[in-house]
Amino acid sequence: MVNLKVERVSKLYGGFAALKEVNLDLGPGIWGLLGPNGAGKSTLMRILTDLLIPSTGRVLYNGRDIHALGEAYRDKLGYLPQDFGVYPNFTAEGFLRYIARLKGLDKAAAVKRTAELLELVGLADRRGRKLGGFSGGERQRVGIAQALLNDPEVLILDEPTAGLDPQERIRFRALLTGLSRQRLVLLSTHIVSDVEYAADQVILLKRGEIIGQAAPAALLRELEGRVWETPVTTEEQARLSERCLCSNVSRADGITRLRLIVDQRPTERAVPVRPNMEDLYLWHFEQPPVDRG
Ligand SMILES: Nc1ncnc2c1ncn2[C@@H]1O[C@H](COP(=O)(O)OP(=O)(O)O)[C@@H](O)[C@H]1O
Ligand SMILES: [Mg+2]
Repeated sequence: MVNLKVERVSKLYGGFAALKEVNLDLGPGIWGLLGPNGAGKSTLMRILTDLLIPSTGRVLYNGRDIHALGEAYRDKLGYLPQDFGVYPNFTAEGFLRYIARLKGLDKAAAVKRTAELLELVGLADRRGRKLGGFSGGERQRVGIAQALLNDPEVLILDEPTAGLDPQERIRFRALLTGLSRQRLVLLSTHIVSDVEYAADQVILLKRGEIIGQAAPAALLRELEGRVWETPVTTEEQARLSERCLCSNVSRADGITRLRLIVDQRPTERAVPVRPNMEDLYLWHFEQPPVDRG
């Protein structure tokens, strides 16, 4: 069974610590790395691909240092970088065959694998079209296909849903859940809906530190009893939004309702509601206006 261990990994850029003593123990399944922009997600992912050397600490693939493994590790690895660019004049098929050859597949294998992957990502009918004319979602699917060319055991996807429309996001999630099983898939995102349904485990990264790791349902349990919905008057709305985290404001039939994350019942009419990932994200990553409670 595939295993990736991150041991006390820190990364300094000049004097700035982008990662601080990160420890992880990852096995097969889908892992969601969730954190706001600047949290250190791409830095961690680049370290996991051995493109970036940590300042301290190490990464082990099945017990062996990935840097020492070198090519042997890269053979097991697929990576979609955050800034994945495609060559606009390549066709989808031409591009994938080209990357396959760069990855060391022989010609026959490159042709075969390209055809399989175009099928898998739902682009077989567009294989002869130029990438320049592809939508964001189609381009990301090409990106995922190129990461899968060597049938990797470890698949690292850095913000794979960036720029996708809601429909493309759903398609992507379906593709993702169809993939895993034996594979270790790590995907980063700042969009909670990406990890809410697709990830087996969510890792919360904040300012270079891991502040939580659990299955989505277990993470939500932490928030149980702290999320409320309440109708408010204009005065209450002003007062409550000053002192509580507000994860939603809605208005219907002339009544304003707030969804608040706060330890104590915020108004007499407030009812506790089931926490969702949006609440969780705010709770962990947003500073409350004054202080919690
Ligand atoms: N090459 C670099 N030199 C200096 N600072 C960097 C460099 N790369 C990233 N950073 C900083 O490190 C922090 C984490 O960046 P990054 O890993 O890209 O976060 P994320 O992917 O979560 O948005 C940010 O504050 C960013 O500005
Ligand atoms: Mg990033």
